[in-house]
Amino acid sequence: MQSLLNKKILLGISGGIAAYKTPELARLLIQGGASVQVVMTEAAQQFVTPVTMQALTGNPVYLSQWDSTIPNNMAHIELSRSADAIVIAPASADLMAKISLGLADDLLSTLCLARDCPLLIAPAMNKQMWEHAATQRSAQRLNANGVALLGPASGFQACGEVGMGRMLEPSEIAEQVIAFFQKKSLIGKKVLITAGPTFEAIDPVRGITNHSSGKMGFAIARAALEAGAQVHLIAGPCTLETPLEASGKIIRTNVTSAKEMHTAAMNAADCDVFFAVAAVADWGIAKPSKEKIKRQGKEAPNIEFNANPDILVDVAQTAKTKNGKPHPYCVGFAAESTDLEAHASEKRKRKGIPMVVGNIGPDTFGSDLNELLVVDDAGSKKIAKAEKLQLARQLIQLVAKKI
Ligand code: C5P
Repeated sequence: MQSLLNKKILLGISGGIAAYKTPELARLLIQGGASVQVVMTEAAQQFVTPVTMQALTGNPVYLSQWDSTIPNNMAHIELSRSADAIVIAPASADLMAKISLGLADDLLSTLCLARDCPLLIAPAMNKQMWEHAATQRSAQRLNANGVALLGPASGFQACGEVGMGRMLEPSEIAEQVIAFFQKKSLIGKKVLITAGPTFEAIDPVRGITNHSSGKMGFAIARAALEAGAQVHLIAGPCTLETPLEASGKIIRTNVTSAKEMHTAAMNAADCDVFFAVAAVADWGIAKPSKEKIKRQGKEAPNIEFNANPDILVDVAQTAKTKNGKPHPYCVGFAAESTDLEAHASEKRKRKGIPMVVGNIGPDTFGSDLNELLVVDDAGSKKIAKAEKLQLARQLIQLVAKKI
């Protein structure tokens, strides 16, 4: 999926060792569908060459405000006018100080001052430089001027120290740039999501579980973050990475059993929207064995099950009415093998929730694609087959209109 299709990004590079990662960022932005135009400071050219950036982007690289090949010799105006956003990675302490004060003594800083598009910067520097009061003041000024700061992260630094000031990874920067362009329909909202399967232990090595990759729930978490929400993701056992972790707007709680998921969800039920996407085991093991159960010839053990609590129903029962709408607004999921619409409508009424989303098609488990049927008080509506993230974005917009 090309989430940056038709976007023109002006990618600025300032002088810092993290510039060795910027070619990878350019590649990811281009893979996302963007056209990328690079501007480098003089110091940046000590770390990565203009030829590398030109080869990767297929565009000439701009290095100076005195370039006579640009019409009217107005590179600073021409370049920023045609961009949908300026992204600077890495942004050095020096560049941050400069643009936070409105100084403009080279092409990149002049572009920032002359721009009429959003500016996103990924700071990268030694931890002492980041922690210095002067840099912190630059960061505050940039924030106040509406510049989006992506990171920095904490970790191992090129100078051998460990601490705050590391540039976010190219994939994290690209994710945040993509997120930046999404519609902000859930700003100030808290979204709770259960995702993945649960695992009910029979003994320390065996257990029962459900088919679920967690991909749909994680896609909804990402789409909700992109829309500006604060997200709490409660995940059953799965290997997926936390979406947009570097945004600092997501809490992830890992659980194993349905009972653990229930406790975590009830503790976080004070939210605006609850998406119950997890494939929760309907039954738990009544008395899990502390020791591995030994095989006894051909005899199979008798295992006693208990019904697990219904997390969705219990969260829905905490809902209060706010502005005439249920709060939290609860969305259930249905994976049925037959008669999806009838089962989804029945589930919506039985669980006392305003919306149920049915997975259409038998091959949704583990797949990156899905097709959805949304059932609410207005009837039912299909969301056509697409990648799960694309479906999640559409679903988030539908739900945002409801709350
Ligand atoms: O009742 P059924 O399992 O078919 O309903 C599916 C929906 O209910 C899903 O949204 C699922 O996450 C939620 N559910 C739950 N707790 C359970 C069982 C299902 O939250 N114990």
